Amino acid sequence: MCGIVGYIGPRDAADICLAGLKRLEYRGYDSAGIATVDEGELHLRKVVGKLVNLEEVLQQEPLVGAPGIGHTRWATHGKPSKTNSHPHISTNGRIAVVHNGIIENYGQLRQQLTAEGYKFVSETDTEVMPHLVEKYYEGDLREAVRRAVGDLKGAFAFGVICADSPNELVAVRRFSPLVVGLGDGENYIASDMGAIRQETDKVYVIDDDELALITRDDVELTDLALNPIAREVFEIPWPAEAAQKAGHKHFMHKEIHEQPDAMHSCLAGRLSSPEAPLVLEGLQMSEQEIKDLRKVVFTACGTAYHAGMVGRFMMENLARVPAEVDLAAELRTRDPVVLDNTLAVVISQSGETADTLVALRDLREKGARVVSVLNVVDSSIARESDGVVYIQAGPEIGVASTKAYSLQVLTMAMIALHFAEVRGTADPATIRSLKEALLAVPDQSQELLDREEDVKAVAQHYYQMPNSLFLGRGINLPSAMEGALKLKEISYVHAEGYSAGEMKHGPIALVEPNLFTVAIAVAGEVYEKMIGNMQEIKARSGPVIGVANDGDDVIGDECDDMIWVPPCPELVSPITIAIPLQLLAYHIADLRGEHIDQPRNLAKTVTVE
Ligand code: F6R
Repeated sequence: MCGIVGYIGPRDAADICLAGLKRLEYRGYDSAGIATVDEGELHLRKVVGKLVNLEEVLQQEPLVGAPGIGHTRWATHGKPSKTNSHPHISTNGRIAVVHNGIIENYGQLRQQLTAEGYKFVSETDTEVMPHLVEKYYEGDLREAVRRAVGDLKGAFAFGVICADSPNELVAVRRFSPLVVGLGDGENYIASDMGAIRQETDKVYVIDDDELALITRDDVELTDLALNPIAREVFEIPWPAEAAQKAGHKHFMHKEIHEQPDAMHSCLAGRLSSPEAPLVLEGLQMSEQEIKDLRKVVFTACGTAYHAGMVGRFMMENLARVPAEVDLAAELRTRDPVVLDNTLAVVISQSGETADTLVALRDLREKGARVVSVLNVVDSSIARESDGVVYIQAGPEIGVASTKAYSLQVLTMAMIALHFAEVRGTADPATIRSLKEALLAVPDQSQELLDREEDVKAVAQHYYQMPNSLFLGRGINLPSAMEGALKLKEISYVHAEGYSAGEMKHGPIALVEPNLFTVAIAVAGEVYEKMIGNMQEIKARSGPVIGVANDGDDVIGDECDDMIWVPPCPELVSPITIAIPLQLLAYHIADLRGEHIDQPRNLAKTVTVE
């Protein structure tokens, strides 16, 4: 996830790009850059670090002219550095490109272009694009971009300018978000409307495989065959002040809603169809090393630990490797046995959590190979791991982790399935149907977000209650624990995540009319048992919110309220179940008037043991 912005008009593009990038900083902040065209030449400023650094450079060496494009980066290919930051420039120095997305076939394109004499200076996937545009440029920038895009596989939103076409800005998208802002004698592009809301409230929302040729006075939208597209102007309904959160009241809410897009990015290049094998290059493990595995140890803290619990379940179930999961802070006290061929899977959004880093070092010292599952690139945990699989969630700003969790679980599923494929431990029909289910997860997640009002209505019934229980079994015990953690950390409602089977061994004593229970009872092996546990609570006058599959006409009788989720295989269900539970916590906290993005006593990254 990165942010792009662009401008064409009478003013200096750098000023507008910088202001837009500031509103896009939530999309990335490890490096930034701006390029403009002035007097037939391309001019460029790039820096490592946050936008304040770019602002300082621009104060010392101002950039004039227009058109211009800007970028704030969230590293995916290549560490944060000046050379890897955008805009990227063609070999002849005439074309500049900013990109949000991932080019899957960049390795092959880079080889071809290098053989043809184009000079690469960065480690990024993006850099193939300016060289391709140069290759195809014969005086028509849009045509060159169109042909270049024809060579690409993957996800992208590009902004492209060229010193030889100084009156044009070209933009194109596939899977990554892009809008064109409409001004009076000036026009804009951006990753989201918030970036340019200060300038205009009128935008075209660009769809996949659409090209925009933008001049000062005109915007021409076409498909990739250059057929014209008539698009209605969208009027941005929220005021400029709400821009950074793109109209959402809180970052947490925004990030909950980013999950379908983030899931697409996480799947991109790894799982393309139910028939294709999974590709997880970041693991850095040969097939033989995967076959030789004797044990997998998952470790993490908080929400990431819950993702690890799901990972352990999937790993044993699918790849048939003995697996353990430990809270990172507890791992050392336990002094775990590390056998030959033990793999440690270390999960962390930030990659900086001190307890997790210490657990990693401990496992490494004992001889384990370490693969980490991370969001932030080039973090401390990344640097000390043998392999890293990035979840591609983009920056998570809300203190309560939401999109990182569902993407961590999605990544766990891909790793376990990949291991099962290599080890031959699951039959091909099962693997195929699970891949189908994973590919359906982004759409199902969108469907769940579309039902937000239903969850909000449930929240309205319970938000004043002081106590709650979240119950699950099997692979959805971690879902219950995560649901409880979300609720307690942002609403301060006492919430316990518990195995439904354990209820009768003690916690059932808590049940009374002022304690609500959220019971996860989706179709699968534990469904009948869950119904039994829910009846036990109802019999003791405890109100129950059921989480069940659409079309289940039995469960409604056992519950006071329902949260419905689309059906999917039980093994995959924790990914989508997370979403309504995040929304439930969010709306309860919001109704209670809490500071959702900065809950008391909590920090986003915990760098002390
Ligand atoms: C809860 C939450 C925390 C983190 C935990 C680990 O919403 O965000 O429990 O999951 O502090 O942080 P990372 O994943 O950065 O290692």
